[in-house]
Amino acid sequence: MPKVIAVTSEKGGVGKSTLAVHLAGALAERGLHVLLVDEDGRVGSSVRWAARAREHGRDLGFPVLEPGDLKPRKLADLDAVIVDTEGRPKRKEIRALADRADIILVPSGPSLLELDATRELLDFLDRDANASRKTRVVLTRVPPVGNAGDDAREDLRDGGATVCNTLVRLYAAYQKAAEVGGLARDVRDPRAGAAWADIMSLSREVL
Ligand SMILES: Nc1ncnc2c1ncn2[C@@H]1O[C@H](COP(=O)(O)OP(=O)(O)O)[C@@H](O)[C@H]1O
Ligand SMILES: [Mg+2]
Repeated sequence: MPKVIAVTSEKGGVGKSTLAVHLAGALAERGLHVLLVDEDGRVGSSVRWAARAREHGRDLGFPVLEPGDLKPRKLADLDAVIVDTEGRPKRKEIRALADRADIILVPSGPSLLELDATRELLDFLDRDANASRKTRVVLTRVPPVGNAGDDAREDLRDGGATVCNTLVRLYAAYQKAAEVGGLARDVRDPRAGAAWADIMSLSREVL
């Protein structure tokens, strides 16, 4: 059965969909069979990302499905299922993720406010040993200059959190990718390669 990797956070706009789409793209580039399930039907969701890909004649390299379109039969052939979770999930739903997912990725920006919100969510997940064990923070939208990302990673680790080594940095290439329904790898941008390298590195940590 595939590894189920859920991307979730309590706040919107932290980079869930960007991370989910790019992680799926990186795993697909490595030759893994991957599917993305979009549980957030709103603007900025992965389903809309895939729709823009079709409009622009692009192929993301993996299917993006809504939960209702999942066929259990098809799942057995997959290496990974990435779940882009709903925008503002209730705590009950976040807790339930631990039963469905093998890995829970919590993207967080490195600002103090975002880190506070992330710690609050981690504290909640820590009350459940199963959820706690599966949870990893991904620092994202990290300024490419300065130490904010490294400092945030160290602070979170000091508090006992599991944090991915890779810092996903703040690059316009991700926004350009979203606009055309593509991946940072494929857009015209001087930092496209750097953005893609972050994602590939993260993908190897995760699977
Ligand atoms: N690493 C990044 N670098 C630059 N912009 C980013 C990055 N990650 C996300 N963004 C931007 O932040 C905004 C919110 O991202 P999104 O993935 O839609 O968040 P969410 O799914 O959590 O609501 C989007 O405009 C997206 O392009
Ligand atoms: Mg989203």
